[in-house]
Amino acid sequence: MDNLKAGFSLQEIPAENMTEALVSIERLTRNVRLIRESVSGKVRIMGIVKANAYGHGALRVAAALETCGIGDFGVANIHEAIELRAGAALTKSATILAFSSPLLSHIEYFLRYGIDMTLCDLATLNAAKEIAAAHGKTLAVQVKIDTGMGRLGISPAMSMELLQEIDRSPHLELKGIYTHFAESVIPGGFTSQQLAAFKSLTAEYEHASGRTVCKHAANSGAILSHKESWMDMVRPGILLYGYHPAKQTPCRLDVQPVMQVESRVIFIKQLSAGDTVSYNRTWSAPGQRFIATIAAGYADGYARALSGRATVMIHGNAYPQIGTVTMDQIMVDLGTEHHVHIGDRATLFGWRGQSAEELADLAGTISYETLCSVSSRVKRIFI
Ligand SMILES: Cc1ncc(COP(=O)(O)O)c(C=O)c1O
Repeated sequence: MDNLKAGFSLQEIPAENMTEALVSIERLTRNVRLIRESVSGKVRIMGIVKANAYGHGALRVAAALETCGIGDFGVANIHEAIELRAGAALTKSATILAFSSPLLSHIEYFLRYGIDMTLCDLATLNAAKEIAAAHGKTLAVQVKIDTGMGRLGISPAMSMELLQEIDRSPHLELKGIYTHFAESVIPGGFTSQQLAAFKSLTAEYEHASGRTVCKHAANSGAILSHKESWMDMVRPGILLYGYHPAKQTPCRLDVQPVMQVESRVIFIKQLSAGDTVSYNRTWSAPGQRFIATIAAGYADGYARALSGRATVMIHGNAYPQIGTVTMDQIMVDLGTEHHVHIGDRATLFGWRGQSAEELADLAGTISYETLCSVSSRVKRIFI
């Protein structure tokens, strides 16, 4: 206990007990190649790295995407944008777009860090004009049109006024116009309506202003199912990370999971018939049984809704997870005989064992949430 503060270093503690997320840069690179091959060569790709690159680690993922030739990045807000600008060693010319509509107090940080700001309304535009002029700088903006997602954006009917006002503002530069689809995995239908509204508006603006602007809309679902939506740039998120936006997505690419979450066996015990496991005693041993305790729980992102539903892979064998998932540990049934040892690796999901999509299905959610839920306690190991 001497000198605890002065000598404290987590690095000294062997990391073996920890739950790790292995992140394969090779698989990420392959997924980018598949996406690039599927869209035409002229279409730019914006790498969506919001929410810590869907849990994979935004700084390393963005740097790897830049190595693949990607120069545009999408994040949720100014905080994620600054983290990326400051930490990812991207080239200065990399464009980072924050999708959120900013609070007025955030505007000056877009200027300071060279982040593209999403503009959805005239009040923000007026504030942005003033702030940019006061700093003697030009603020890059991208206008978000709400064509039917019903989340963020200006209505098509109001958008010409906003766009023309940007053109009249010497301290604002229009870098793009974009929209977002509500059900892009379904061919035709509502997505076609959204796209028609977007294309009509952007054509009207380009005709009236005599200039062309970068137009983008396609998320992963639209990349797969709506070729006509690719325009100047596509914005894949989930496809980069090796999953399809929905199980029923009709068009598919051979993308592979980029993340594999592995933990360790930390305890093995033998139970007799009738002994119970975990909170609320939902599982009881049908006979003599070996049970392994694994060092991961819902605080690591292994959903409590998975209790008693999923399997865990140890030495290539799938063992049923039993009883309630706890905050820091889960238990698996090794059966009546086993060759498992304390310290052995246990795969929770990834390219081996169950995929994030399968776990999501069992937990009643989607792969996006399973990936984003992998918590900061889980160490990312880039391989
Ligand atoms: C504005 C925007 N574009 C693109 C994406 C990427 O979506 P996906 O992961 O389905 O490709 C998202 C993610 O939700 C988004 O919010």
